[in-house]
Amino acid sequence: MKSTLKICCLGAGYVGGPTMAMIAAKCPNIQVTVVDPNAARIAEWNSDELPIYEPGLYEIVRESRGRNLFFSTDVDGGIRDAEIIFVCVGTPTKKQGIGAGRAADLRYVESAARRIAAIAEGPKIIVEKSTIPVKTAEAIMTILRANSKSGQFQVLSNPEFLAEGTAVEDLLCPDRVLIGGEETEGGAAAVQKLASIYARWIPAERILTTNLWSSELSKLVANAFLAQRISSINSISALCEATGADVDEVGNAIGKDSRIGPKFLKASVGFGGSCFQKDILNLAYLCQHFGLPEVSAYWESVVKINDWQKHRFAERIVRELFNTVTGKRIAILGFAFKKDTNDTRETAAVSVCQDLLAEGAEVVVYDPKVREHDIRQDVLGKGANDNLLIAGSAAEAAAGAHAIAILTEWDEFKSLPFAQLFENMPKPACIFDGRNILPHADLREIGFRVFPIGKAHKISGHK
Ligand code: NAD
Ligand code: UGA
Repeated sequence: MKSTLKICCLGAGYVGGPTMAMIAAKCPNIQVTVVDPNAARIAEWNSDELPIYEPGLYEIVRESRGRNLFFSTDVDGGIRDAEIIFVCVGTPTKKQGIGAGRAADLRYVESAARRIAAIAEGPKIIVEKSTIPVKTAEAIMTILRANSKSGQFQVLSNPEFLAEGTAVEDLLCPDRVLIGGEETEGGAAAVQKLASIYARWIPAERILTTNLWSSELSKLVANAFLAQRISSINSISALCEATGADVDEVGNAIGKDSRIGPKFLKASVGFGGSCFQKDILNLAYLCQHFGLPEVSAYWESVVKINDWQKHRFAERIVRELFNTVTGKRIAILGFAFKKDTNDTRETAAVSVCQDLLAEGAEVVVYDPKVREHDIRQDVLGKGANDNLLIAGSAAEAAAGAHAIAILTEWDEFKSLPFAQLFENMPKPACIFDGRNILPHADLREIGFRVFPIGKAHKISGHK
């Protein structure tokens, strides 16, 4: 009888959980075990309240959980049983030591590799799914071969390109799957083995195979190019505000050029998320390391513009509220770094809230999915500030506020009862639309002073 292929994933986070759930759903005859030492997270994956919010995720987890999808804290057991081991652990920016603030902290990747080396008995394929600096596969290989009795390892690079909020869609129908392997017979066989899993639901022409270093670097470069488009349009948003051009019209006009394309040209309060900033800083660090300071500075400027855009947004609020927000209530609608996720990592909302609190404002935050505890932790850390309040609805946040600021593009914000909100706000009542999602002309008609991103201010009552 043909034995079941067993795969294991180290790390039950935003990538490990959804990716493995999709493989389990599409390949009922593969046994998939996701392991993580974080017992609370594993318990949530085994419950009806998954640790992350992603549209459609619960349905695919429920379909396979207990059949061929398992979540466990038994890391060693998972490693021992599996033929293919995915490494989906975090790779945050280093906080101290050489490269602090820029280089990737590879401690979790290294400890995963050491654990695999200590436990593995037979031949294993190790798949780097975490985003890592170029040449990490070499380091993993060295650790594995130096510490293991069996020594039969192949290391593949298989970076993940899913975006949060659309993870299930992206996994179901990716633009491409990228697999890099060693240019040896064993490497090619391992690449083919992994490709054959994806081939169960992804057309062959979308499964790209490359050498290891191209695959590792392509992930960093993809994120850098995406973030660069946002910083580019955000830089232009400032020019639009100064000149009377409209950033949405400019974005639309340039995006019609098929060489530019329409996606990722939406001006905003600034990009957030766990990866863009960290991956660009990591890319810049690598360039520096390899003696390319000009290339490094070029990419770093993408992050600088993003930081500037976040502060610029808060400064505009202060300026338009007559240069003082001390004691004024400001409603912050949306805290997640984008809609349809409860993830707040690097969200622009943190910077905006901190800037407004520093100005003495009373900041009232409402987000449909982010928990109060996370908002407080992100903005205040271990500190406290009575001026930070959390509301249970947009209307509650806006009541008594001098201004509303939209920081996340949640659909529910597009159709709020604005006339009612206006009634309950001191006048003049302002709206700062950090996502350009609201009906600006209608809001002016109600009487709001409206300040979108990348559009000159128009007087209320003028459409
Ligand atoms: P995460 O922090 O949500 O999850 C990582 C998990 O790994 C944690 O639960 C942690 O407990 C666990 N872990 C740490 N060491 C472990 C070990 N030795 N064994 C088993 N588990 C261990 O991180 P994430 O957002 O899923 O990101 C993981 C990687 O994927 C990062 O490199 C990130 O850059 C990359 N990535 C993330 C996204 C995204 O949308 N979040 C998309 C593409 C790529
Ligand atoms: C991003 C990439 O899109 C994924 O391909 C990649 O796998 C992932 O990073 C990763 O490596 O972690 P994600 O950060 O989840 O995915 O979400 P995006 O949709 O890329 O949005 C990132 C940020 O940019 C959000 O704050 C979003 O609001 C902002 N954004 C996006 C804009 O401000 N304007 C746009 O036009 C698009």
